[in-house]
Amino acid sequence: NIGPAAYSPLVIDHVRNPRNIGEMENPDGIGRVGNPICGDVMELYIKVKDGVITDASFKTFGCGAAIATSSMVTEMVKGKTIAEALEISNRTVAEALGGLPPVKMHCSVLAEEALKKALENYYERRGEKPPLEVTVS
Ligand code: FES
Ligand code: FES
Repeated sequence: NIGPAAYSPLVIDHVRNPRNIGEMENPDGIGRVGNPICGDVMELYIKVKDGVITDASFKTFGCGAAIATSSMVTEMVKGKTIAEALEISNRTVAEALGGLPPVKMHCSVLAEEALKKALENYYERRGEKPPLEVTVS
């Protein structure tokens, strides 16, 4: 475990005041992922209208980096088209947070995977085949 001193001020801000926290009623897509390294879990919920992500929220049981990246990814996807959302990677989320300590980079993978899973689930619910970029191995 590493102390808060290693986190950027923006990461600490998102840990203390997470944005868009909580389960969503009637989401259009849910992404549930677990981190095989630490066992932490994240759930991401999205609303999609006319190909645009209009809302996002999350529930995360994890470390500070997992909470901060969840919080940041919900902020980043809102208002984006699905194609734009697919450009978001764990690195862009970490960069938007002013960086993460190298040992915490694995935590940011959860945010990218949860987003892709939520989009995959969105297509599944519509009975459509998800585009390849969405599938998480
Ligand atoms: Fe357990 Fe990150 S806090 S692996
Ligand atoms: Fe598990 Fe960060 S230590 S997600």
